[in-house]
Amino acid sequence: MTQRTVLITGASSGMGAAAARLFAARGWRVYGGARRETLIPTAPNITALHLDVTVHSDNVRFVSQVMTDQPRIDVLINNAGYGEFGPLEEVPLSAVHQQLATNLLGAADLTQLVIPIMRRQRSGRIVNISSIAGDIYTPLGGWYYVSKHALNVWSDTLDVELRQFGLRSVVVAPGDTASSWSAIALQHAAANLTTDSPYRGLLTAMQGVLTTGERVSGATSADLATVFYRAATAPHPRRRYYHSPLDQFLTHVARAHPTLYHQAMVAGTRFIMRHPH
Ligand SMILES: NC(=O)c1ccc[n+]([C@@H]2O[C@H](COP(=O)([O-])OP(=O)(O)OC[C@H]3O[C@@H](n4cnc5c(N)ncnc54)[C@H](OP(=O)(O)O)[C@@H]3O)[C@@H](O)[C@H]2O)c1
Repeated sequence: MTQRTVLITGASSGMGAAAARLFAARGWRVYGGARRETLIPTAPNITALHLDVTVHSDNVRFVSQVMTDQPRIDVLINNAGYGEFGPLEEVPLSAVHQQLATNLLGAADLTQLVIPIMRRQRSGRIVNISSIAGDIYTPLGGWYYVSKHALNVWSDTLDVELRQFGLRSVVVAPGDTASSWSAIALQHAAANLTTDSPYRGLLTAMQGVLTTGERVSGATSADLATVFYRAATAPHPRRRYYHSPLDQFLTHVARAHPTLYHQAMVAGTRFIMRHPH
């Protein structure tokens, strides 16, 4: 069998770095992209490239470099992402643009570049790293949730359009997973608060929730990389991939019982504000 090629965005940290290691260990030719490309894992079959997914010329260069070296692209993993946390009253719209440019439009841009190549091959798969936050929400993550909800419906629509060509677009929805993600989301939340913000108490309460979530779930980036691998290689892929039954259950409750979920969020937020960690 010829060596398969995968492109992974956000390969310098967390799940993207773990996925680069896993695909390389399983014999794939890996092209990893990130702004901090020197942090991308090194191996003979990993090529690390500078990539800011919000910059169109970077995306063009990334895909052209792969096509100069390789006869085909089997899988694109749109993994680059971060949480632009903060209260919706205060997050500056310039930061919102950056959030959507990274988590949604960067994936869309790269995908538009890769689809014509995959269509000519009559095979290929787009794996979009969304989140359980594509179905659920908590306070202070509003724009992140918007980006992941949008990524889900974008992926589903794309999947319907691509099936006629033998291509698929699927979603991996991680829950709390150990990586740099929560520290970066909290940094953004703190930076997005105004000096006399009335949301300081809520942020203090949510800090505890975000850091406890990671500890309780126990999921590592390496665990999630195995889910990425399943989503990339399953002969008949599903629309959604989860790491744990709890992640899947939470998204099911939020979709099937939206009012109940909303009431639980309101009550839960009142509770954590009265009993901060
Ligand atoms: N960890 C969680 O609990 C969790 C849960 C659900 C979903 N997710 C999602 O899973 C994906 C991976 O996150 P992670 O947990 O592995 O977080 P992470 O450790 O912070 O890694 C994020 C990666 O995204 C890259 N990135 C960010 N902005 C970029 C840009 N403009 N261009 C290119 N690369 C960019 C970063 O690389 P550079 O900074 O070097 O560019 C880094 O490699 C994200 O989409 C995240 O939203 C995470």
